[in-house]
Amino acid sequence: MSVFPKGFLWGGATAANQVEGAWQVEGKGVSISDICTGGSYKQNKRITPVLEEGTFYPSHDAINHYYRFKEDIALFAEMGFKVYRFSIAWTRIFSTGEELTPNEAGLEFYDQVIDECLKHGIEPLITISHFEMPFALTAKYNGWVERKLIDLYVRYAEVLFKRYKGKVKYWLTFNEINSATMPQGNLQEAGIINKGTIDYMNQVDIPQLRFQALHHQFVASAKAVQLGHAIDENYQIGCMLANFTSYPLTPSPEDVLANQKAMQMSNHFCGDIQVRGAYPSFAQRYFDENNIAIKKIEGDDEILANGTVDYYTFSYYTSFCQTTDPEELAAGNVFGGAPNPYLKANDWGWQIDPSGLRFALNEIYDRYQIPLMVVENGLGAKDVVEADGSINDDYRIDYIKQHIEAMGEAILDGVNLIGYTPWGCIDLVSLSTGEMAKRYGFIYVDRHDDGTGDFSRKRKKSFYWYKKVIETNGEELSM
Ligand code: BG6
Repeated sequence: MSVFPKGFLWGGATAANQVEGAWQVEGKGVSISDICTGGSYKQNKRITPVLEEGTFYPSHDAINHYYRFKEDIALFAEMGFKVYRFSIAWTRIFSTGEELTPNEAGLEFYDQVIDECLKHGIEPLITISHFEMPFALTAKYNGWVERKLIDLYVRYAEVLFKRYKGKVKYWLTFNEINSATMPQGNLQEAGIINKGTIDYMNQVDIPQLRFQALHHQFVASAKAVQLGHAIDENYQIGCMLANFTSYPLTPSPEDVLANQKAMQMSNHFCGDIQVRGAYPSFAQRYFDENNIAIKKIEGDDEILANGTVDYYTFSYYTSFCQTTDPEELAAGNVFGGAPNPYLKANDWGWQIDPSGLRFALNEIYDRYQIPLMVVENGLGAKDVVEADGSINDDYRIDYIKQHIEAMGEAILDGVNLIGYTPWGCIDLVSLSTGEMAKRYGFIYVDRHDDGTGDFSRKRKKSFYWYKKVIETNGEELSM
């Protein structure tokens, strides 16, 4: 008997700017991701506020999903997906973010995507904002630093909630909202460039601005939750966090405390506000020590209290160690934290830790007691197309298998887990490096970092494996 409940939502996840391409068609405006070049920061990934001739911008074509979504969704259906998590590009609906009426062509595109999902019996799960916002708002207001963004976002969300009423049930307000709790250097490394949480023009980290921007996102999210419920009481509106599970590097009480502090600000801070509806008490000391004073206006606290989410979702790729030893910390990867001597890493230094997923699920469920969904998880790896056209990605199967087993254990532990959407169910542009070479998919896309490739799709070995996993509701995990 499968430990996964009947009706468990198996599926996959993508984001608009990493798959769609068609960056300037039918009224779409320029988004912040459209001005990011490829390559990691160390390899000169840059933001170019003025588009440069001859420079490669991965999101401009991405994987051409805009023109191939029917083929892609049919492939998802062939694997048996029950749910497909994707995001709507804000810039297709409001090109600069400030128009008073939405762009009908953009809405029609998502009408078609949603209808295609429903035709195949796939539940759409929509991220309203996934590291993509109108560049115009960034340039004019420094993004979310400006309070006005709340109203602009809520107007955008309202359009979606009304348009897709009766067709969509599951929504997420912001992707990995807690990424803004990290210092800007790390954000840049991770490719999360100016989702409005940094001083764009100067590219410097100003914690005051970052947390002020985050406050505006919390208020916007809470308002959207209230509005969504008023539009359709069946809407399930969730939060989405990057899970930063970490362990003390040593049993020294200092490391244990350092770890507790890190987990509080990286995970619990946003979760507490979005699920419990109020800033947690531990935040004040962090604010005092970092010269942060959040400007709230009257009514903000009530909005947060009344706009709590229905379910909690998160991405989980890796875990970290925390320590007070600066040398160990310096050896960490893009997300900070120290490497764990017990774990192996992928080619990009992300350590692989399935037990950490079980740990995270237990931690989160114990704290909030609302349904959970793992909406991102997967292995970024370089795939090889063999002479016969096959792609034998056993390493990916192994990674996902171990994480599914960990989810099964968590369910046995008593966690109410309702779905799993592995990241990049089809190969897509990497967020942190802008590469195509960092592939996550069950479906291979013929597109390469030098801009070559015909965008054709191929089923990888993991495609057939995941199909069987879904068919057996997670019971049959052997290769
Ligand atoms: C998450 C993001 O942080 O990680 C995705 O929500 C991203 O957008 C994913 O693609 C994997 O990261 P990367 O850098 O390997 O693409």
